[in-house]
Amino acid sequence: MYILGIESSCDDTSAALLQDTRILSNVIANQDVHQNFGGVVPELASRAHQQNIIPVVEVALRKAKVGKKQLSALAFTRGPGLLGSLLVGTSFAKSFALGLGIPIIEVDHLKAHILAHFIDDGQAGGKPLFPFLCLTVSGGHTQIVRVDSATAMHILGKTIDDAAGEAFDKAAKIMGLPYPGGPEIDKLAKTGNPEAFVFPASSMKGLDYSFSGLKTAFLYFLRDRLKEDGQFIEKHKADLAASLQNTIIKMLLNKVKRAVKESGINRIALAGGVSANSGLRQALLDMAEENNWQTFIPKLQYSTDNAAMIAIAGYFKYLDGDFAGQDVVPYSKSR
Ligand code: KG4
Ligand code: ZN
Repeated sequence: MYILGIESSCDDTSAALLQDTRILSNVIANQDVHQNFGGVVPELASRAHQQNIIPVVEVALRKAKVGKKQLSALAFTRGPGLLGSLLVGTSFAKSFALGLGIPIIEVDHLKAHILAHFIDDGQAGGKPLFPFLCLTVSGGHTQIVRVDSATAMHILGKTIDDAAGEAFDKAAKIMGLPYPGGPEIDKLAKTGNPEAFVFPASSMKGLDYSFSGLKTAFLYFLRDRLKEDGQFIEKHKADLAASLQNTIIKMLLNKVKRAVKESGINRIALAGGVSANSGLRQALLDMAEENNWQTFIPKLQYSTDNAAMIAIAGYFKYLDGDFAGQDVVPYSKSR
C-alpha cells in the first residue's frame, strides 16, 4: 500500500510517501518569509503553501520512486492549525485524489505527532506498546495523552493558555532572539547555568498546564534588570536561556510523573516540535532511569512538523477503512 501524506497546518509545506509503515520520502519546504516578522503571518503562510505544494509533492514522489498512479490513498492534515494554510492542503488533497480516483483520509495533526513513533525507517528503535502516555509539546499545543491504540487516544491534561513552544518562542522574542526561539534557547542553554535565575513555575490542578504566567514573569524580571543594566540580557544570555528552559522542563515533567502515578502506565513517549529540545530529552531520560520507565523519543526529523507522520496516521485509518468525503472541511481548533 502506498500512502501520500500532505501537511500544511502552519508554516511548513510537507509531502511524504509511505509503503505501509516504511518511509520512502519526507520532503519539507520551510517558509523563511516569516522570519522578518518574529512569528508566522497566516496570510503569507497560505500563499507560500500554495506556491510550494505542487513542487513538494513532485519531489516526494520522485525521491520515493513511486508514480502517482501507484498511490493507494492520500492522507492530509485536516486540523488543528491555520485555516488558510489547512485549506491549501485540503483542497490539493481533494482534487489530486479525485483526479486519480483514490480515497482521501483526514488526519488530526496532534494525533499524527504521536503516531510518528510508528514510522519505520529501517533503523533500530523500538515502538511503544499500547497503552502508553505521550507528552505532546508543540508551538500550539501541550498535552498529556493516554494512547490506547493508534486510533483511541484520551487527553488527560492540557495547557489552559500558552503552549510550551509558545513559552520558548515568546521568551526568546523578549530576549531579542530570532524566530522560532525554541531552538535558539536550546542552543544557548547548553552553556548556561540552569540554576542562575529562579522563575515561578505555576502548577495547575490535575494534569493541566499554564505557561502564560511564566512568560509575564520573565518579561517583568528582564524589564527590572534592564533598568539597572542595559546590557543585562547580553551579559546573561546563556544563564537566562538555561534557567528558563529548566523551569519549562520541570513544569512539563512534574505532570508526567503524576500521570504515570495516576495511570499506572510507565511507557512514556515525547512528541511535537518541543520534543527536539535537548534538555527535555535528557531530563526525561534521567527521570525514566530513576523511576524505571521505558521512554520513546522521536528522531528530530519526525519531532517537528512533517508529512511522514500524517501518512502513518493515514495508514492506520486506511486499515480501518476510515475515509473522508469530498465535502470534508478543515478545523482550526483542537476537537
Ligand atoms: O510541532 P511543531 O513543529 O509545530 C507545531 O505544530 O506547533 O512545533 C514548533 C515549536 C516551536 O514553538 C519551536 O520553537 C519549538 O517547537 N521547538 C523547540 C525546539 N525545536 C523546535 N523548542 C525548544 N527546543 C528546541 N530544540
Ligand atoms: Zn506540529
